[in-house]
This record gives sequence, structure tokens and C-alpha cells, in this order.
Amino acid sequence: MNPSQQEKSFQIETTANESQVQARQHLVELFESSPLSPQERLFNIGMYTRSSVLVKFLVLNDIYQRIKNIPGQLMEFGTWWGQNLVLLENLRAIHEPFNKQRIIVGFDTFEGYTPLSSKDKASEVWHEQSYSTGKGYVGYLKALLAAHEASNALGHLTGQHRLIEGDVCVTAPQYFTDHPETIVAMAYFDMALYEPTKKALEAIRPHLVSGSVLLFDELTWQESPGEAIAFKEVFSRNEVTVEKCALYPSKAIVTIK
Ligand SMILES: C[S@@+](CC[C@H](N)C(=O)[O-])C[C@H]1O[C@@H](n2cnc3c(N)ncnc32)[C@H](O)[C@@H]1O
Repeated sequence: MNPSQQEKSFQIETTANESQVQARQHLVELFESSPLSPQERLFNIGMYTRSSVLVKFLVLNDIYQRIKNIPGQLMEFGTWWGQNLVLLENLRAIHEPFNKQRIIVGFDTFEGYTPLSSKDKASEVWHEQSYSTGKGYVGYLKALLAAHEASNALGHLTGQHRLIEGDVCVTAPQYFTDHPETIVAMAYFDMALYEPTKKALEAIRPHLVSGSVLLFDELTWQESPGEAIAFKEVFSRNEVTVEKCALYPSKAIVTIK
């Protein structure tokens, strides 16, 4: 199944009503019929970026500023197409153009969701294989990240980032066995489910330092109880601070004390 077929088989998470959905569809049509060339469209991409997408850029910029003075890698558990990995590479280039030690690591099956556990809630948003990017996508994402690295400062040093393909329940513990020296400055959790979130949290825990930040996408979302259950099982209240993300209510920012 290719990604566009796959896209139709699940519901992208949204709170939009009918008229907002129509306005968004109109935006898609305006994008497709744009008088701008592809090059001009890329350079002026803000013309087509909705506020609900722009806010994600702003949140990641806030997180980047918080961890700028914390050493270590930046990780995303549940990368999907990899937009956040690209944003992180470009935020790295803006905030620390000469720091090529900021390895950015993306974990995903790239074949969509794994089965739910009894601690998760069934949902139209995630069922097995929803959010699959299709086989072979990893190669494209690697090339995309390398292209961004190459166009940034010290662009001759590419290939600094890693894509880890497979079920996080297996790949997260394996990653830290393979790279025991790892320090994690920031990790973004966006898988919503109990099992992979718990396994990833347990795996990164020994590699966090004071000031490391964990960003949770769905900590208080009623559709995804598994994420908060996993978090509360792995961390105790006296070792972290927890904040609601100011710009994005469902996201929560956890800082290691
Ligand atoms: C909501 S999407 C992530 C969206 C992405 N963070 C973004 O903001 O664009 C959730 C991702 O988690 C991945 N995922 C779910 N369960 C997983 C597991 N057990 N191991 C690895 N990836 C998993 C899915 O394949 C999917 O790409």
C-alpha cells in the first residue's frame, strides 16, 4: 500500500469543524494551483503554513532554546514523515551553527502503529499500520536531512543524523546498548501508546542529565491514556518538573531536575 492509499485508511487527529475543514481544503487547492514555481513556493512556504502547523515550529523553537546549553543528542520517538527532524536540524543551524555534535535521532517503524495494549484506548487515529510512510521512505528522509545539513553552515559535514527503523520496544533498548556513551538533551515522545512509550522512557532514563527536556505530545489527551501511564510509571514527581506547553495545550514539557 502506498502512503496516499494508507492516508485514507485512518483519521488524522483534528478538532476542526466542517467549515474549517473546507477552508483547509481550499488552501490545498490554492497550493496546487499556485502561480509560484516550486522553488518560489519553497522559499515562501509560510504563505501556505496554517497557524496549527506554525505553532508546532514555535513550540520546537522554545524547546530548542531550553536545551541549547545542555549537551547531547536530540531524539524523536515516532517521527512519521520526519518534519520535526528537519525542523530540529534547521533550529540547530540557527541556534548553534557550528555545533556538529548535535546528533539528531528519529525512531519509527516507518510502517505505522504497532498493536495497542490493554492500557491504550482504541481510536480512529491509531490502529495497526496507521501513519505508515510506506516501504523505502527512510532512504528519502535520509536524503532530505542530508540536503538540509548540506545547505547549512559547515555543510560539508553531513550524515550526522540517524534514523532507527523498527518497533521502539526493540530498537530503543538496542540503540543505547550500541551507543552506551549517549547523553540525551531532548526527547520528543509522539507515539501515544503505552508499550513503546514505556520502553523508550526506560531506555533513555540513564542517559538524561540535569536540564534534559522531554516533550510529550499527548500527556493529557483522553484518547491516549497510555502515554501518561508510562510516564508516571517511569518517573517520580521529585525528579522532574512538568509544565503545560503554553502555546499547545495537549503538549507537556518535562525537565529533569
Ligand atoms: C502521530 S505519528 C508522529 C507524528 C510526528 N511526531 C509529527 O509530529 O509529525 C506517530 C508515529 O509513531 C510511530 N509508532 C507507533 N508505534 C510505534 C512503535 N512501537 N515503534 C516505532 N514507531 C511507532 C508511527 O509509525 C507513527 O509514525
